[in-house]
Parts: sequence; C-alpha cells; structure tokens
Amino acid sequence: MLAHLTGDRPGVTLGTVQDLDIDPISPAIGAEVRGVDLAVDRLDGELIDAIRPAFLDHHVLVFRDQHPTREQHKNLGRAFGSLHVHPSQRSPRFRGDREIFVVESGPETRLNNGGLWHADVTCDEVPPLGSILLLTDAPPNGGDTLFANMHLAYETLSQPIRRMLGPLTAVHDQRQDLRRYGYEPRPDHDHPVNHHPVVTVHPETGRPLLFVNRAFTTAIDGLAEHESQALLELLYRHIAEQPRLQCRVRWEPGTMVLWDNRCTQHHAVWDYHPHHRRGERVTIEGTVRPAPAPTPS
Ligand code: SIN
Repeated sequence: MLAHLTGDRPGVTLGTVQDLDIDPISPAIGAEVRGVDLAVDRLDGELIDAIRPAFLDHHVLVFRDQHPTREQHKNLGRAFGSLHVHPSQRSPRFRGDREIFVVESGPETRLNNGGLWHADVTCDEVPPLGSILLLTDAPPNGGDTLFANMHLAYETLSQPIRRMLGPLTAVHDQRQDLRRYGYEPRPDHDHPVNHHPVVTVHPETGRPLLFVNRAFTTAIDGLAEHESQALLELLYRHIAEQPRLQCRVRWEPGTMVLWDNRCTQHHAVWDYHPHHRRGERVTIEGTVRPAPAPTPS
C-alpha cells in the first residue's frame, strides 16, 4: 500500500504507509515523523490515515524539511477539519489571510507570542482541535518550543485533588490573553468568553485530561477569588515544573509541527532576543465542546 509518492524534491525518499518512520521525542509526548513530503497539492488519504494514529498516540508530530506553499499548508490542516480563524482576525477590518496566524518576534518585540504555558484559543466555545506551525525564519540559536501532555498532567495529580477537580468548571477569556500583550479589548469586538470543565475527556480517545491554562483561564467557577487563584497556580506549576510531562522541539526553517490542542499545552521559549523568529500557523477547528470527565471514585 503506497503512501503519497508524488513529491518532487530530490533526495527525499518517500516510503510506503507501513514505512512511516516515527521516532518518539520523549516517553511523555512528541514524535518526529520522517519520510513524508507534505508540500503537495493533493494529500494522499492513506498517508493522512497513517499519520492520524501517531497524532493520537504522541499528540505532537514534528516534520522536518517541509516547504509547502500557504495553500498546501492549509490543505494539510483541512485534512483534519475545517480551518479555524483566530478571534483577533475575525473582524471585517482585518486585512490579511484570516486562516494564517503569524507568530513573529524580533528586536522590537515586548512579549513573544505564546511565551507561557497554554493551549490555543481555549476561550472559544469549541476550542481548536489542533494547530500546524511552519517555521519560516529561525533565530541563530534558541527559540525552541516546549510541549506538555495534559493527560499525564491529570494522571499525575493525587487522587484527592483529582476528585476535587472533577465537578469544577473554569472561565476562559480572550481578554486576559490580549491584556497580557498590552492590548485593550475593544468594546465593539466579540472577545470570546466560555466556561469549560477543569477536567475534560479527549473527544476521540475518551482519555481524561487537565484543561486549564495560564493564557486564557481566569477563574474557577464557584470558588472565592483567592481559592480560585491558589488552585489554578497549583495546577499551572504542576504543568510547568515537571519535565516528565514534556518534550522540547528545536526548530529550523521548514520544520512543521502538528499538535493536538485538545490534550497538550505549549510554551514558545523566548531566549533569542534580539534575534528574529517567524512562523505561520494554520489552526484546525474543534468539533465538540469539551465535555466533563467522570469523577474518579
Ligand atoms: C503558539 O502557537 O503559541 C506559538 C508557538 C511557537 O511559536 O512555537
């Protein structure tokens, strides 16, 4: 059974689906996928079918030396679902390609995009399924991205904390994220605010996971503010301070990373100032609202 064999880059060996070469980055999360060329106008369904289980198993897939056009990049996203438009690009005033979210930091940057542990756009009623970031410009060194596995984050909490989190929901608010970058939310703009379970289940695998993040989650419903902040801080530190939940991805121009936004968080490390780093992200719409996980007995 042949996978996509229409790549035309010399030196790229395109394998069969059975030959898809998947090399885990850490036991917790992430894998490098070798031997595929995603810069094609028509993606082979069998190749996508072969990538999908690896995506569900490893949550973050890294493809090296990929140089797709924007349309080819979007087509890869469309192989997993409809394309998502970031809330800041939904206004009729937005000029540019709404389906491409540019991440860029340079000498003038005050705060890099994604420079804290987060999942993308969890303020949406149905948060994105995943994202595919293609790095176009890399700094001479640094600029890695850390990824963490939210299933493991949940499973490594103690049973009493898991029981306490089970019935809770939290507020996810885009305005918190905007303010962090120094932007004042616009009264005439629809900034999504939604409540999601603190512990949800992956819609495809049913595995429970921790679903709060520092960028978008503002409070846990029903708790006093000091209780909510203390509990969120405990959970954020649990995610950030445990390398056993994480992997680290090093980028070069042409590195393309597909992550499952439903069960991971990431942190774009800003250790390369004043150098320049740029990438283009295609984000895939989610299909269902996060559902509460059964509370452990
Ligand atoms: C992001 O999507 O949050 C940015 C990730 C990165 O720049 O590595």
